[in-house]
Amino acid sequence: MWDFPLFPEQASTAARHVDQVYFALIALSIFFIFSIGGAALYFMTHYHFRRDADRRNVPKSNWKLEVIFIGSAVVVSTFFFFWGAYKYLKISQATDDALELFVLGKQWMWKVQYPEGQREINRLHIPVNQPIMLRLTSQDVIHSFYVPAFRVKQDVVPGRYTTLWFEATKTGTFKLECAEYCGTDHSRMLGEVVVMSAPDFARWLANRPVQSTMVAQGERIFARAGCSGCHTAASAVHAPDLQGLFGRRVALSTGETLVADASYIRDSILLPKKHVVAGYAPIMPSFEGQLSEQEIFALLEFIKFEPALNDAANASPNTEKNDANK
Ligand code: CUA
Repeated sequence: MWDFPLFPEQASTAARHVDQVYFALIALSIFFIFSIGGAALYFMTHYHFRRDADRRNVPKSNWKLEVIFIGSAVVVSTFFFFWGAYKYLKISQATDDALELFVLGKQWMWKVQYPEGQREINRLHIPVNQPIMLRLTSQDVIHSFYVPAFRVKQDVVPGRYTTLWFEATKTGTFKLECAEYCGTDHSRMLGEVVVMSAPDFARWLANRPVQSTMVAQGERIFARAGCSGCHTAASAVHAPDLQGLFGRRVALSTGETLVADASYIRDSILLPKKHVVAGYAPIMPSFEGQLSEQEIFALLEFIKFEPALNDAANASPNTEKNDANK
């Protein structure tokens, strides 16, 4: 679509939709500026006190005009509500095939983790025409992940996960900004999103130094932090089984049920008393302050893909035994 010169270029599937609503609202505002301003000017000159206008029989009310004014305002605003809501739903719903990346905001930088283990700071490489889902959190204050060319913006909030979905439609380098005042160097919390063709992206990923995948990192943390002491089939302690947990419905001791998503798992690690699984005693200690947000990202990947959740106890017997006996 046509790129308006004062706007950043349109480089994602969302950009066109956002701009359509935005331009329509600007056009509507211009229409009202001229029609209201024009009417005001006309009345000012026509009924100027020196003018010889007919001032008899001033109408007290005119119900037909009122019906037209109120009716058209209702129709126009309702139209914008439904159109905007439709567009919002269209651009905010992630597809299942999205590539999930993990982003941690901190004063004053963006740290990115790829599932395969690559890491970046203030730069995000992504393939073109591929849905991307970011899982975002902050380790200090509220930041906001903003890519103007993609027309997407999402607050990054400490203590919780937010997600952001987009699909780039052009290769190139685009600005990444923090759009929430977050302290002295907020204005320098900048980065870039590099959109590459699929083969270039695959080559880039392959050439990045990697120590281990996030699942493997998660598996190590699972053993080191002592999770495996309770949460494996072989463990003596009676704790909820994590196999196949991700996305499953969980019954809680309060009688409620909820879906075990990323936020639930994060809360269960840091605030284990918040949601106690039905049939289990609330004996799990909190890991607040013991695990970094990046380690929790890795644990999440491990629990989600669980390559060897039930054999985690056997995977690394040395570290495992020590932690379990603590
Ligand atoms: Cu981070 Cu502003």
